[in-house]
Amino acid sequence: MEVLATVDDPEIGKPITELGMVEEVVVQGARVGVRVKLTIPGCPLKDRIQREVTEAVTRLDGVDDVQIAFGSMTDTERQSLSASLRAEKGAANAELDNPFASADSTTKVIAIASGKGGVGKSTVTVNLAVALAKQGFKVGVLDADIWGYSIPRMFGVSGKPVAFEGMVMPLQAHGCKVISIGFFTDPDRSVIWRGPMLHRAIQQFLGDVHWADLDFLVCDLPPGTGDIAISLAQMLPNADMLVVTTPQQAAQKVALRAGKATEQTGMSVAGVIENMAGFTDPDSGTTHDIFGSGGGEELAEALGTEVLARIPIDPRLREGSDSGVPLVVSHPDVPAARAITSIAEGLASRRGSLVGRALPLTMS
Ligand SMILES: Nc1ncnc2c1ncn2[C@@H]1O[C@H](COP(=O)(O)OP(=O)(O)O)[C@@H](O)[C@H]1O
Ligand SMILES: [Mg+2]
Repeated sequence: MEVLATVDDPEIGKPITELGMVEEVVVQGARVGVRVKLTIPGCPLKDRIQREVTEAVTRLDGVDDVQIAFGSMTDTERQSLSASLRAEKGAANAELDNPFASADSTTKVIAIASGKGGVGKSTVTVNLAVALAKQGFKVGVLDADIWGYSIPRMFGVSGKPVAFEGMVMPLQAHGCKVISIGFFTDPDRSVIWRGPMLHRAIQQFLGDVHWADLDFLVCDLPPGTGDIAISLAQMLPNADMLVVTTPQQAAQKVALRAGKATEQTGMSVAGVIENMAGFTDPDSGTTHDIFGSGGGEELAEALGTEVLARIPIDPRLREGSDSGVPLVVSHPDVPAARAITSIAEGLASRRGSLVGRALPLTMS
């Protein structure tokens, strides 16, 4: 059972042992038989479960042969599973409730904002979320940039999230739970929704998605101070906002507007991240301030906060975003990755309640 607990149901993202999916284990000498109950008959991910169960059991000393048989849950079993998942989600009424707004929520919500597009907001969101997950936290990523979503590509994740008894199961990538409008739309068609529809989408992302007990929810906001930013701020009054800017003056001025918007919505600005802060030529070792310098510092002063990190220009950061392998995974020790990891460490240390909790034994 211990090794079977390392196998997650790919859709629900929890160990099959906890979900009541292991019906029977029979051991005869070096031969092991496992009977697995699928949540739905003919589950499309059956092969993956079969492979992972076989691998897990084969790792045990003295096991030569693993046989797996599949059955499926009865209606009653499925209903009781969904009731327990729902209870965990912390929302008695999924339609109206948003677990992150409740006073006893232990999830720290981080909203990544910027004045304009193209400054690296999504890049920071993805790498920061993965850096937190690597530190052992349970991390969710909400892509709130409905029109300009790029989180699926940057995480290298695609596919349709599964609906289970009225809940939406987020997709998993690089140790994070991820939800994006990109999972629900045709990639070749643009999302042209306005106010009320956007508000509803964000509401569903918060309330109807089975996030379970997250330590951090990192939200990639659309640029500027439009409808979505306002909606989110209203729904997540306890969120901390991190404002991303490039070092140049112009970007700094628009970012100030985004930061100031928090004054009207109750979110607080937790810091400024200066991105694309200089490029160091690997051949000569000379640093060029391609997008100027000092913008982050001035913005932080204007917002009454501080610069949490300066992320240099590194082409590998872009390559990682394009290939779906974040830089903190592929090159964790280069300066750009270290800068983002340091933000994650700062956020982690401010989460006092987590001090002393056990970290998972294996980290990817
Ligand atoms: N520090 C950096 N060095 C190199 N390329 C970067 C850096 N930050 C972001 N990029 C690239 O710049 C482009 C815009 O970044 P993105 O995160 O999509 O911005 P936003 O979400 O603010 O619109 C992307 O192609 C990204 O890979
Ligand atoms: Mg973006």
